[in-house]
Amino acid sequence: MNIGSVKLAGNLLLSPIAGYCDLSFRLVARACGGVALACTDLLCPEGVLRENKRSMELAATCENDSPLAMQLYGSDASRLCEAARWAEDHGAAIVDINMGCPVDKITKRDGGSALLCDINRTLRLTEQIVRAVRHVPVTAKMRLGWDDNRIVAPELARRLEDIGIAAVTVHGRTTEMRFQGTVRHDGIAAVVRAVRRIPVIGNGDIKSPQDAREMIARTGCAGVMIGRAALSAPWIFRDTHSYLATGVIPSPPSVEEKCQMMRDHFYNLIKYRNERVAVCEFRKRISWYAKHLNPCRQLRDAMRVINSREDFDRVIDAFLAWRAEYDAGRCAEPIESPAWPSTMAMSENRTAEPAPTAA
Ligand SMILES: Cc1cc2nc3c(=O)[nH]c(=O)nc-3n(C[C@H](O)[C@H](O)[C@H](O)COP(=O)(O)O)c2cc1C
Repeated sequence: MNIGSVKLAGNLLLSPIAGYCDLSFRLVARACGGVALACTDLLCPEGVLRENKRSMELAATCENDSPLAMQLYGSDASRLCEAARWAEDHGAAIVDINMGCPVDKITKRDGGSALLCDINRTLRLTEQIVRAVRHVPVTAKMRLGWDDNRIVAPELARRLEDIGIAAVTVHGRTTEMRFQGTVRHDGIAAVVRAVRRIPVIGNGDIKSPQDAREMIARTGCAGVMIGRAALSAPWIFRDTHSYLATGVIPSPPSVEEKCQMMRDHFYNLIKYRNERVAVCEFRKRISWYAKHLNPCRQLRDAMRVINSREDFDRVIDAFLAWRAEYDAGRCAEPIESPAWPSTMAMSENRTAEPAPTAA
């Protein structure tokens, strides 16, 4: 699939998920295979242009994190244009405009899916961004419309194509639906019918390779974007790529391989952020990884109280040792195993926030 001048190695995209699909996680998903394009979290033009710390963390990328779209939100044309130029100078292969975020903080400032409410204004805004960038394609990610009475995605996508947008991603829900209900394939299909040449990427509720195939079959979309399902199974792109090409889903990664993904993710966080962030992230991220590691109750409980990289390594090592015994049929799931690092010991040492380390 091509997006403007950018040739992608496939048609599977990793969603932007604010607070989750950062550089550290993107590298893990990319290493599993099958990710043709990934995207930053939504970036505030003002923060990017001032190069404030938080925006620079969100915009961080590296050689292996390629190709990358950087996503901008807002409604101030001149700041968006400047930020789009900043993005192309700082590693973006594509600049994406967020037209789908339903969060009040964003829509109250006329950004995100508020852009679906006045499409003439949105077209004027987007045209300026398309003209402002020098060499990267501009894309848009949208929902179907604000609510059922205002479905605008087909018309908006067609007119965006006319002003030079290179692809659109459509999350098949309205803003009003937030994440409720089921994704509407017919709504995405209407966008596919409305555009002439540009790829339409279907998004929403893809939890398996079969779901991806169904999305493509029912909508005619050129590619799919997967978000939440990748947080617990970063290998879903590898599986989907194989399934779409051959009909075969590879066997799932082993427990050891899944633990190695967690280690890579944790140590990426230390490398690109710091140990404190890695520890805090993994206390919450463990519940996502745990979905595909059952039985793993002790792993979940122990990871939620880690305080350092040593704790992290001890918890993973103990889990692997216990799982080897369990999988060999030599033990049942214990309430407390002697091999297991004591969660009490870790929580006793626990400070309100883990101690910061030098970045
Ligand atoms: C916590 C959270 C944060 C999100 N952040 C963004 C974002 O920064 N930019 C964006 O375009 N979409 C964002 N989304 C929407 C996702 O990219 C995607 O459209 C949505 O989750 C549906 O896809 P899925 O069912 O595969 O997760 C976010 C979704 C969630 C749940």
